[in-house]
Amino acid sequence: MLDGVQFRAVDLRSNVDWGVQADGVWCSFTAAYFVDLSPALTSWTRDLKPGGWIALTEVDDLFGHQPLAPRTTARLTAYYDDALATGRYDFRAGRKLKQHLEKAGFRVAQSMTLADRELSFNGPAGPGVVEAWRARFERMHLLRQFLEDDFDQVRGEFLDCLTREDHRSTAKVYSAIGNRNP
Ligand SMILES: C[S@@+](CC[C@H](N)C(=O)[O-])C[C@H]1O[C@@H](n2cnc3c(N)ncnc32)[C@H](O)[C@@H]1O
Repeated sequence: MLDGVQFRAVDLRSNVDWGVQADGVWCSFTAAYFVDLSPALTSWTRDLKPGGWIALTEVDDLFGHQPLAPRTTARLTAYYDDALATGRYDFRAGRKLKQHLEKAGFRVAQSMTLADRELSFNGPAGPGVVEAWRARFERMHLLRQFLEDDFDQVRGEFLDCLTREDHRSTAKVYSAIGNRNP
């Protein structure tokens, strides 16, 4: 229990009324669900105090891990394209955080990439990280549907890739902080 803290469950696609004037908005790993992010940012920050801030963190190129067979990379890239075309998720959202903040009228004070031991790292993953990825594949029902008979092969190859000495990530975690001019 945290003193003075209230939690509310809201649909972030709706016109959110937080009922308070906020010092800042913290949004981690949720921006990519909004393929047209700038209007959503405007809606989430309507009640920001003058001079308030927003901090966004999002992964970019989630399945960007190598070495994978070119066909496997192509199947995963096709899934990125399908998710974007159907408005479900932007797998390339991380690199766009800064431009979305600017479009929504924020001055970008900081924009950076962050090391992440599960999402963006080089060299072999430990067992905990591989298990986290295995669980992620289990949750990704739409990926299973999209890949059809290729799903097991893609998952197996991807999990093997994570444990290789020569494993490299092109996936990146981006973070950007914007300020609303007072
Ligand atoms: C990858 S999880 C990140 C969870 C957490 N913020 C974190 O950093 O670990 C994505 C979150 O976005 C939430 N989300 C996606 N679309 C949403 C929406 N329309 N309204 C509210 N939450 C949403 C999901 O419920 C989920 O909790």
